[in-house]
Formats: sequence, C-alpha cells, structure tokens
Amino acid sequence: MINMAKPQIGDEEKKAVLEVLDSGIIAQGPRVKAFEAAFAAMCGVKFAAATSSGTTALHTALLAHGIGAGDEVITSAFTFIASANSILYTGARPVFIDIDPATFNLNPALIEAAITPHTKAILPIHLYGLCCDMDATMAIAKKHGLVVIEDACQSHGAEYKGHKVGSFGTGTFSLYPTKNMTSGEGGMITTDDAVLDEECRVLRQHGMRKRYYHDELGYNFRMTDIHAAIGLEQLKKLERFNEKRRANAKFLSVNLKGVVTPFVPEGSQHVYHQYTIRVPDGKRDALRTYLQEQGVGSEVYYPVPIHQQTFYVKDLGYDQSLPETERAAKEVLSLPVHPGLSPADLETIVAAVNDFMK
Ligand SMILES: Cc1ncc(COP(=O)(O)O)c(C=O)c1O
Repeated sequence: MINMAKPQIGDEEKKAVLEVLDSGIIAQGPRVKAFEAAFAAMCGVKFAAATSSGTTALHTALLAHGIGAGDEVITSAFTFIASANSILYTGARPVFIDIDPATFNLNPALIEAAITPHTKAILPIHLYGLCCDMDATMAIAKKHGLVVIEDACQSHGAEYKGHKVGSFGTGTFSLYPTKNMTSGEGGMITTDDAVLDEECRVLRQHGMRKRYYHDELGYNFRMTDIHAAIGLEQLKKLERFNEKRRANAKFLSVNLKGVVTPFVPEGSQHVYHQYTIRVPDGKRDALRTYLQEQGVGSEVYYPVPIHQQTFYVKDLGYDQSLPETERAAKEVLSLPVHPGLSPADLETIVAAVNDFMK
C-alpha cells in the first residue's frame, strides 16, 4: 500500500532523543530554546514560541492578541476543525467566508464585506502548503486595524513573494507527524513582536511571569525537550523534504490526466503538504475506491466544511451557504506526495488515476 504519509525519522532524531533522556532535562528546557531560535530563523522572524500542538499554538496566539468573548474572527470553513475551534476556545466567533476555487484558500475579495464592529482578526489558512494572497489580506487588515493570525500548520517553509509563511502576521504551526516536519506532537508561534512573544510564553506556562505568581489565566501548553530534539533534527531536513515533495508534485502534475492538478500562483513557493486534485463529474468517491483496490492511498481533506459540521449547525446555529467551499468538499482528493515515495510509487499512482479517468 502506498500510504498518504510516512514520517521521515532517521538515526539523527533517535540519537537526539536518547541524548535528552540521558541529560536529565526531559520537559521544557534547552532543546526547546534552541528549536525556537532555529525555527524563527527559518521563518525569517525574530521570535518563535514552542507549544504542545498546532491547536494550542492557535489558541495561545489568539489569546495573546486579546481576542475573546464578543469578538469575531474572519476565516475559512475549508480546513481542519482546529482552525475554527481554537477561535471558539477563546469565546470569540469564527466568521466564515468562501474560498478562492483556484487555490482553496480564503478569498480576500470577500473579507471586507464580512467585517463588522466586532471583527478583531483575520485568520488565513495556508491550506495544503500554499500561502494565501497575503498582499491583499495584509492590506485589508491594515486598513481596518485588524490582527492577522496565519494558520501555517500545513505549510512549513512555504513562500509568498520571497517571504516565508509565518512572517506576515502572527504565525502558527503544527508539528504533528504527518506534517512537512514533525516533533511528534508540537506547535510554534512566530512573530517579530517581543511583547506578543512574551505573552505567548506566559500563557503556555499557567500565566506565570515570576515563579508561582500568576497574574492571568494560563495553561500548560509547553513542549518537551524530547519533542524539541526531534524537531531540531527535522528542521535541518525541511528544505530537502520540501524539495522532494515539489519534485513528486511536479511528476504528478506533468503525468496525471483527466483531473484538475494544483494551481500555483506566480510568486508562490508551494510545499505540497498535500497534493490535492479536483475530480470532475462526481467521480471522486469512485476514484478513491479504485485507488484503494490498486494499493494507492488517498484522502479527502475535508469532506465536511466546518460550517456544516453537526456541532456548528446544531449548537452554534451556523446556517450559511459557501458555494465554492461546498463544491471543493465534494471534488477534492489528496494523493500521496510525501518525501518517502519512490519513482515506482509515483508511476503506480499516475497509472492508477489515469486508468480510472480514461
Ligand atoms: C490547518 C490546520 N490547522 C490546525 C491544525 C492543528 O494542529 P495540531 O494537530 O498539531 O493540533 C492542523 C493539524 O492537522 C491543521 O492542518
């Protein structure tokens, strides 16, 4: 079976973990600090604060910006549930706008119409490894005095006009094993703002600035040195992993027939966390079944947009139509693109898709 994801763990990660175990400092310590510095450098920002997951990175970043009850955050419903749930955790309300059908990302032309006196932030999601239209998004945020929190959980190292994701607004990343790089579980918050960075560090550590003095409600959202040791080694390999993903994606895009392959806007450097095609004519689910029979894994990210999830409809009262989001949920299919694929795997994927679509 050709799987959708395969964490690339080598001897370097194993050795680094054993060193931590032998060091006596297992929880948050010097490896976390080193990992934060290296991650900030990769993104081209001054600061990075490590957390326990991408979800807690999002939650912490929102809280650090003072977002809470009564506030609205404009975002996309075509994403993993954590992007919107993290807004709910703060007491704020996600306001969903439709996606650009070409990129699957937030359509910036729809942002301004969604702004109300309650709007505090825009939360663009760089889905599948492709950066959103940040020129347009940042210009609107500036005009209306809004905060921008980037959900870069799927796009480590992706670039937009020469700048890395996570360097436009406040960046948030996931380090889950299926991502372009991993620490096992983990997250990062990136920023150039020293005050915001400090607030994130306080929030992840029970609101504690001085040992055992708690001025505000905080959480235990810390990363351990065991996780940071893995992350540090993975970060050294990120560019190589991303190059392999891009080469795999190129092969697929050149050879696949009868499906819509990913679009990369001018000036964007895609890192293909997912290689996502559109399957026309209602054939998506049948193609998926066929691929499974041929030993090719595939996945639908995401079959139910967030505004249509049961809990959002029944408990939160969401009742809106997002036509492009809903169409994408019916048509998208992600194929394996991870760095562990062999040339033979790629040939198998192409042959299986083209055989079905002919
Ligand atoms: C777009 C997006 N946002 C947020 C998250 C949450 O990250 P984590 O699973 O590390 O909490 C993920 C992870 O799958 C994601 O893909």
